[in-house]
Amino acid sequence: MNAYPKINAPRLLQRIADFAAVGATPAGGVNRQALSADDRAARRLLAELAVARGFGIYQDAVANLFIRRGGSDPSLPPVLIGSHLDSQPTGGRFDGALGTLSAFEVLESLEDADVVTERSIEVASWTNEEGSRFSPGCMGSMAFVGAGDILGWQDMHGVDGVRFGDELAATLNALPEAVTRPIGHSVSAFVEVHIEQGPVLERTGVPIGIVTGVQGTKWLEISFTGEAAHAGTTPLEFRRDPMAAAIGAIARLQQVVMPADPLARLTVGRMTVEPSSVNVIPSKVTFTVDIRHPEEGMLSSIEAQVIAECRVSSERHMVDVHTERRFDLAPGKFDKAIVDLIDNACERLNVSSMKLVSGAFHDALFIARVAPTAMIFVPCRDGISHNEAEFVTPENIETGAKVLLETTLSLAGG
Ligand code: GLV
Ligand code: MN
Ligand code: MN
Ligand code: MN
Repeated sequence: MNAYPKINAPRLLQRIADFAAVGATPAGGVNRQALSADDRAARRLLAELAVARGFGIYQDAVANLFIRRGGSDPSLPPVLIGSHLDSQPTGGRFDGALGTLSAFEVLESLEDADVVTERSIEVASWTNEEGSRFSPGCMGSMAFVGAGDILGWQDMHGVDGVRFGDELAATLNALPEAVTRPIGHSVSAFVEVHIEQGPVLERTGVPIGIVTGVQGTKWLEISFTGEAAHAGTTPLEFRRDPMAAAIGAIARLQQVVMPADPLARLTVGRMTVEPSSVNVIPSKVTFTVDIRHPEEGMLSSIEAQVIAECRVSSERHMVDVHTERRFDLAPGKFDKAIVDLIDNACERLNVSSMKLVSGAFHDALFIARVAPTAMIFVPCRDGISHNEAEFVTPENIETGAKVLLETTLSLAGG
């Protein structure tokens, strides 16, 4: 090993600003939804930076992107670090990009210092973590661990009506210099840096969260189908109004099901109304329900309650109800040895840290099925995320990258 590697904080901040310009929104956030032209542009930018540093570029059939800095023993499974580059439609500039670019900064800092690691280190950028355009979320990491139905996804259409398979092919073709590799190559460990997306670290004044696990998520898509009719002439007893049924059910979810358990989180984030005309009783109302809970049993029980409330409301309003599960991610724990490595890295760097469980889901929870995995959180202002106003201080960005570098060095060996 030559000089001890050092995070170049101004370079990392500049990279974050450069990526925030790709798909930038007027309010200061980003709209870089999975497999869109802007997602492709961000992937291109990362690949160009990788070429400039002489790193290897690989992608698999679901467009997971890997930037590789070879180790002295290329036969060993690599250490993976990284996150995602796709965003919510009104996303912030840090969710995903921070972890991907902190990981890339680790590779660059090793290169600057001519450090030779025993294991290769790869920056992973997982495809479609967010799940806002194509559902479910975490498609890339899910496929990587053999839990996703890649063939079944091909003919799915995004919320914008575009076919998944077409966008995937365009994304793969946008990086002709990438070497194609099979999905799910073997990995020795995975570490993901991410913003906390909640208020705990900021409130307690601690710069690093060591994530010991992730709560569970279920997504449902529920449609109520009634009969389109004239808004002015249809008396109450003739109305088969799916909107009445939907708002009746949603009120029960918000006012009865969620308050019954302080750990439950239920969110109705998307609703479509057909035919969507001011003076037509709708024929169909479709909405999503995002359910989170740290305990698997409670998650399933809440899902059952949601479905039961929808049935009751559909009967009351004489409409049909159809329920489909779109995402099912059981709560999970991260690897104790990696958690301890991060803890030790914080001690060596004299950085205070605390353990916490993630309220958001992450690709790391899937990768944990095939390799020892854990996550490093940094605070975000007011705990705000999935919002263009997302903000992380430069000091916390630098600290997160330093902890990642230190942890990666322990995992990759010198
Ligand atoms: C991930 O973006 C989540 O919704 O937890
Ligand atoms: Mn994220
Ligand atoms: Mn997100
Ligand atoms: Mn996420």
